[in-house]
Amino acid sequence: MPIPDTDLSFVRRPIDQANGLPNAHYTDPSIYEEEAQALLARNWAGLAVSADVAEPGDAVPLSFAGMPLLLVRDREGQVRVFQNICRHRGMILVEEPRKIEGAIRCPYHSWCYGTDGRLVSTPHVGGPGQNTHDGIDRSLLGLIEVRSHIWFGVVWINISGDAAPFEEAHADLLGRWKEFEKPLYHGGADSAFHLSVDCNWKLAVENYCESYHLPWVHPGLNSYSRLEDHYHIEKPGAYSGQGTHVYRQLKGDDDATFPDFEGLSDKWDTAAEYIALYPNVLLGVHRDHAFAILLTPEGPGKTVEKVHLLYPTSDTDAELRARNTTQWRDVFEEDVFVVEGMQRGRAAPGFDGGRFSPVMDGPTHLFHDWVAGQVETHRAMAKAAE
Ligand code: FES
Ligand SMILES: [Fe+2]
Repeated sequence: MPIPDTDLSFVRRPIDQANGLPNAHYTDPSIYEEEAQALLARNWAGLAVSADVAEPGDAVPLSFAGMPLLLVRDREGQVRVFQNICRHRGMILVEEPRKIEGAIRCPYHSWCYGTDGRLVSTPHVGGPGQNTHDGIDRSLLGLIEVRSHIWFGVVWINISGDAAPFEEAHADLLGRWKEFEKPLYHGGADSAFHLSVDCNWKLAVENYCESYHLPWVHPGLNSYSRLEDHYHIEKPGAYSGQGTHVYRQLKGDDDATFPDFEGLSDKWDTAAEYIALYPNVLLGVHRDHAFAILLTPEGPGKTVEKVHLLYPTSDTDAELRARNTTQWRDVFEEDVFVVEGMQRGRAAPGFDGGRFSPVMDGPTHLFHDWVAGQVETHRAMAKAAE
């Protein structure tokens, strides 16, 4: 396939002169594939939450950037990610989320793998009744593992295998949110939901990064946390987002609140922060809960937003939790018409990527600039390899 070539030099200018990414980066299938490699595969992307495989033996098949993957918690309790294919003839191994009792058995010719990926049996591979063959070295035919890391309750994957270690790549955010470096308990079934949106996944990041749209898109939030209560968060090359100085805790009928995370400094009495960790994860922290949104691309104009709410303890009040889920669902649903509207807008041939408010759009521009830089690097490497 020829290397797609869009001019990204306009994107990389200083914010007051920059344009956004060209339309093709939201609509063109070959650029979508290119970005899957340049942005999603080469960095640490969010795949799932570790709570998706709560118990040893739990297995969940997932598709990410077009790849069939299998998320497993192995017998020892370690979360692992494999390519969801049999090493024999490439059959998909697991079709539905389930508990693996014993081994992962391929439904085609019954080759079996341990939850740690080892190939453990190959029935009749050497002929009827012969379960071994000299030409089939089981030790070389385990499941293909994808590099993974757990942080913030999220399973991060680096498909290319050569990104810097997660702690190194994201040292800055780990430092910034050190106070939240403690167990985050998933609220369970009432604290997870999916939103299916008709837009490119990057538009969800770009919208999340800025508070500029608050007064018009989130009038409810804006009624107590106003535009002027917000500040930008900008770390070139890694993340961007926004924070507020005015966080109002959710209260139950009896004025009950969720417990706070232990040991937080005074700043968090009233502050909250919302950060997009590049490429595809949107995170939020508050004194009494956190959330992670995993953006799962399903084509140039289709994304599933997987929202998970996380708490300081495992026994928070279920009714208050459900209320919190509803509150956030309402907020994130308010954003759907703008991300979908921007997607439809990218069918307009006259659109030049748009312009940024030099004051209000800094965190969003930073993401555009990061995308352009990553794509340029990827193209240069592809050209060098030609
Ligand atoms: S393809 Fe899996 S055992 Fe044959
Ligand atoms: Fe929003």
